Parts: sequence; C-alpha cells; structure tokens
Amino acid sequence: MTIQNMGHILRHHLELRGPKGGIFAFGLSSARYVEYSITLDWLISERPLQKDLILELGCGHSIMPSFWKKMGLSVVVLDVDLQALKHQAKVGNRIESGNLYACLARGENLPFKDNSFRFCIAISTIEHFPGDGDVQAVQEMARVLKPGGLIILSVPFSRNSKETDDYLHLIPWVWRRIPRNTFLLFRKFNVDRTGGFFERAYNFENLGRFVSSPSLTFEDYKIFGDNRIYRLIHEKLIPMGAVTFIEFLLTKKCMKFSSSEVPRGGIIVKLRKICKHSIA
Ligand SMILES: C[S@@+](CC[C@H](N)C(=O)[O-])C[C@H]1O[C@@H](n2cnc3c(N)ncnc32)[C@H](O)[C@@H]1O
Repeated sequence: MTIQNMGHILRHHLELRGPKGGIFAFGLSSARYVEYSITLDWLISERPLQKDLILELGCGHSIMPSFWKKMGLSVVVLDVDLQALKHQAKVGNRIESGNLYACLARGENLPFKDNSFRFCIAISTIEHFPGDGDVQAVQEMARVLKPGGLIILSVPFSRNSKETDDYLHLIPWVWRRIPRNTFLLFRKFNVDRTGGFFERAYNFENLGRFVSSPSLTFEDYKIFGDNRIYRLIHEKLIPMGAVTFIEFLLTKKCMKFSSSEVPRGGIIVKLRKICKHSIA
C-alpha cells in the first residue's frame, strides 16, 4: 500500500462525491483504503490493456469500478443490489474513457462464458455468502477468468474463523440504540450494509477452500489489522467509513501489516488461473 495510491483513491472519491465527499466518507473506510490501494498496486503491476475485461463482483457502491473505467478498462459490475448497480451505471456514465456494464446476478452463479475476464475482483464481498457460497463464487470466478488471469479478493481475517449474522456487528453501541434509523441513514449515504447480514471471518485453514479448484494457485497475500485507537474510535464513537478525514488519517496511523495472524483484521489475496500449458 502506498501513500500515493491512497491519494489517488481519495482524489477520485472527492471527484465523484463533490464537496460532500470532503466530510462524509460514503463507506470509504480505512480498511477500504488498504484493500483498494493493494488491489491497485497488484493490478498496475499486471500492465492492464484497454481491451481487458475486469469483473467487480459485489460492487456495491464502491468507487473502484469507475476508477478502473477511468484507467480505460472495460468494467463489468455485478451485484444482487439493483440500487447499487444503478448507482454504478450513473457514476460510470460521467466518465468518458473505458466502458462499464452492469449485471444483476448472484456471484455464486455467474452469467458469463468461460475464459472471458482478465481480472476478477471481490472486495469484502464473498464473506457475506452463507454456506458454500464463497467457494462457489471463487470457482465461478476461476471459470470465467482467462488462463493467466488474476482474482483479487479480500475477506475478514481472524485467528479463529467465525461467523455472525448480527447485522449490528462492529456498529458502535451508541448507534445500536437506534438501529432502524442507523440503517435508513446508511442506505441514504450508500453504505453497503443491509438487514440480511451474514459475515464470516477466515483463517488460513478455511482460506485453503478457495484453491480447491485445480486451475488456481495462491500467488500472494497481505494481512492487515487495526490498533487500539482505531477500535476505540470505531467501536465506541463513529461507525467505520463515516468521516472522510478520520478514515484517511486512521489508515496510515492505525493499519498495520502483519505476516502472522492478527486478532482482528483483513486479508487480501491474489489467486492466479494457471495456463493450460503450465499444468502439464
Ligand atoms: C460489504 S459490500 C462490499 C461492496 C464493495 N465491494 C466495496 O468495495 O465496498 C458487499 C456487497 O456484496 C453484495 N452481495 C451480497 N450477496 C451477494 C451475492 N450472492 N452475489 C453478488 N453480490 C452479493 C451486496 O449487495 C453488497 O453490495
């Protein structure tokens, strides 16, 4: 993660949201700065070409699909949330370069032909697919990916893998007293969290399920975690992704990378689809 990438992401956020974006983060949390910056690093190092197709699975209201479009790429955004897709189409229309196509579908069953995309990205998405939905989504991404193509995905990471369906998970207690209003407010500000909430945190053991597909190899990963100041702010006071300058500052000050397991954090993973000739 570089400060330069974080700057690009912040600038893009401000361009899209205008003056309101200077105050309200619209879900662009510290964790997202980390996830988006690393994704950007990994993508740039692949030297993407303008004709390359990139799939953003579970795009929500993320600012990255329009960022990829701005880079001149052809972007397919996919989600089960129609409102999020309409938002992506509207924002995408404002950017002249590249192309953007919106697709209402489930990540577990992608409506695309085999070997279509060079990149598949799922940031903070497949941990919300219950049962084996996460594994199915990775298998589907592997199927639609071209040989040599890349999957980048991020999920929560925890020493002990765990699941929750508490939709107030990680919401400060002050806000928990008015959950209905909170969620109406979140919806208004395009934060992707709804009532039907399920989240899984992963450890190395269950991450291994993703490479059960013989066509995929684990190429790289980065684990990141937050510190006590971060937790104090986000568990007691302000929901994550609410105030732009706080999130930006917390990213640099409070997000730490670790080669070992962290008590609470996230992992971003790079998987490569093996070329047929390299399997033989
Ligand atoms: C936490 S949001 C992440 C949004 C975005 N990737 C970002 O960077 O902020 C998770 C997204 O996954 C979508 N989603 C949930 N279940 C899905 C499914 N089965 N197939 C596709 N998308 C799904 C939700 O609608 C939501 O937009």
